[in-house]
Order: sequence, then structure tokens, then C-alpha cells
Amino acid sequence: MIHCVDTHAEGEPSRIIVGGVLDVPGTTMLEKARRLEREGDWLRRLCLFEPRGSAPLSADLVLPVSVIAGSGSGPERSYPIPMADSVNIDRKAQVILVRYANRMYAFALACPHEHAAVKWLAKDHRFQCTKHDSQYTPDGKYTSGKATRNLDRFPVRKEGSAVIVTMDRVFQSDQNASAWNEAGIDV
Ligand code: FES
Repeated sequence: MIHCVDTHAEGEPSRIIVGGVLDVPGTTMLEKARRLEREGDWLRRLCLFEPRGSAPLSADLVLPVSVIAGSGSGPERSYPIPMADSVNIDRKAQVILVRYANRMYAFALACPHEHAAVKWLAKDHRFQCTKHDSQYTPDGKYTSGKATRNLDRFPVRKEGSAVIVTMDRVFQSDQNASAWNEAGIDV
């Protein structure tokens, strides 16, 4: 299901696609736009052409930002809550922020096996370790490979439209399963 918000500004109607569309492969917005032109023009036609659209309508697709920088000092960092399912990585803080199935999580970027970085494979919709290929679901659950637990989760809490991540502790699913399960917020 595709979620849209219709707006109207000074006589100019527009439709903002805020959910239901997977991330578009590409490392820059220009690459993503070119990919959409080549392989995803059905989306533009679906949203803009009749019977759902009309001639003066324009559309915007909100895509997840793949790299993000948090703000804050000390052990807490603040990040805006994304409008749609997405994976964002703050490399400086070594944290992955995931919005998935109406929940928001913060994972350690390091694989729990030997601490290599994990990467997000958008087309396969999962995380994978860059060293021994352990695999994890979008909410950090281990599915295969040499690792023996889920991705480690940081404690998070919601403040207005931001998620606050506490970076000085981490929950490991094999040591504290209940804390690991609860380390997320509803969005
Ligand atoms: S470091 Fe990730 S599976 Fe070994």
C-alpha cells in the first residue's frame, strides 16, 4: 500500500509519497532519480495520471537518507524520526537507525561476531556483515552466519519528533533478551 499526503499551496496541488515504496538503489539522489526514471516510472504515472491524479498535480517521493549525523553531546545523540521505513547510518557514532514496521531501533554498526561493519542490502531487505556474511533482518534479528546473536541495540526513547539514543550502553540479545526486545520505540 502506498501512503500519500495531498497538499495545496497557493493554488498548486501536490502529492507527497511518504510510505509504501522501498528505497531506490543509488548512492546519491541523482542516481536514485535516474534509476526511478528508467525502472520506476509506473509510480509517477500511478500518482499523477487519472483516475487518481490530475493535470496540475505534482508529486514528491520521500526517500530514506542513507547517511545521517546526529546532534547532541555526551552519551546521548538525537536524530529526527524518519517519515517512512528507512535505514540511516551515522558512521561517526557507529550507529544504525532503522524505522521498520512502526518501530524505531538503534543498532551498533559492528557485527557481534568479530566487530566488522554490517551493511544494508536494500534489494535483499536485510543487513549483512562485511567480513563473514552473517545476515540479519531489518529489526536486527540474526538469521544466518558465524554470529551467534542479534545485532546489539542501544537504548532509545522518543522526544517529540526525535529519537534519543543513549550510546554508553548496549543490549546484547544473548545476555539480556528482555531489554533487547524492549529497546525500540513505537512510531
Ligand atoms: S565479523 Fe560478522 S560474521 Fe564475523
